Amino acid sequence: MNNLHSKTDLSLRTIEWKNNKVVMIDQTKLPNKLEFVEYDDFNQVAEAIKTLVVRGAPAIGVSGAFGLALAVLQSNGTTKEELISDLDKAKKILYETRPTAVNLAWGLDHIMTTANKGNTVEEIKELVISEAKKMADEDIEINKTMGKNGSVLFENDDTIMTHCNAGALATVAYGTALGVIRATRESGKNVKVIATETRPIQQGSRLTAFELKHDGFDVSLIPDTAVGYSMANGLVDKVVVGADRIVKTGHVFNKIGTYQVATMAKQHKIPFYVAAPLSTFDMKTNAEDVIIEMRKGSEVTGIGDKKTAPDGIGVINPAFDMTPPELITGIITEKGVVKPPYEKSIKKLFEAN
Ligand code: MRU
Repeated sequence: MNNLHSKTDLSLRTIEWKNNKVVMIDQTKLPNKLEFVEYDDFNQVAEAIKTLVVRGAPAIGVSGAFGLALAVLQSNGTTKEELISDLDKAKKILYETRPTAVNLAWGLDHIMTTANKGNTVEEIKELVISEAKKMADEDIEINKTMGKNGSVLFENDDTIMTHCNAGALATVAYGTALGVIRATRESGKNVKVIATETRPIQQGSRLTAFELKHDGFDVSLIPDTAVGYSMANGLVDKVVVGADRIVKTGHVFNKIGTYQVATMAKQHKIPFYVAAPLSTFDMKTNAEDVIIEMRKGSEVTGIGDKKTAPDGIGVINPAFDMTPPELITGIITEKGVVKPPYEKSIKKLFEAN
């Protein structure tokens, strides 16, 4: 298939507002089934975030916003105060679903600020729903701009490694790291992709490989343990990953294993890029205070339904790790690419925007 210059097909839309309901791809079913779920209760959205029906930092930011859009419809409040109080309760439930990706708090706070601008119950309902829909549409535009900004960093015939899923499925429809790869191809360059399987729950093999194949990319899957081999044998030209939270010092929190990939890239002098929108930056929290989500041991002691470890074994299962700034070649955003020293360049980025 020759789709070197083709426009990306946006049919893989992770999350959408339809007839006062939230419609999502059920990512737990991929790659075997492309199934959609429909929710009319914010509690269902909270459960979907917790159980990874929807996942990926920007996608859960927009899910939180749509959760609050459902909450305004569910509220029986007859005054502004009653409605805002119901929204606050819903926000708390949505907020507590996952701790590491800052986009969730960003999406919820943004909608609460919007809600507080309304004067009447009807006005607040309209404002919240239209703002949540706008955030979803803007996510696609932001990712496309970020993609274009990042595409200049990649050459024709590059093989690009990525980790976890930072694609259409982690956002509304285009992707952060995979958005950069998509934009690079749209700019006329031929690229190949190496996707790590991303243990323990295989977002790389289940999701990244699925969506890149869906889009006609040349993608090869490797076990996480083959990152060093691939780099040492000249199979990788550049790396691009997404992020769940970037703090002001340039420390990047992303899917567990990112730190190992970045360390290997440094060892082999391979450029290592992070692609993330401004909504993924947290200018208030220090790196040491970021909460790393710990997940259940069964994700490690088995693959799917198959047990792969002895009963009763102790497990350490962090979902994210921290990559220090000295391993990062550049951070690609919708407002441009920031380079080291990050403390200065990130500060400048936020002052200018
Ligand atoms: O646990 P997940 O699947 O929500 O983790 C997602 C990641 O770590 C992604 O790489 C990240 O959100 C990148 S942003 C598109």
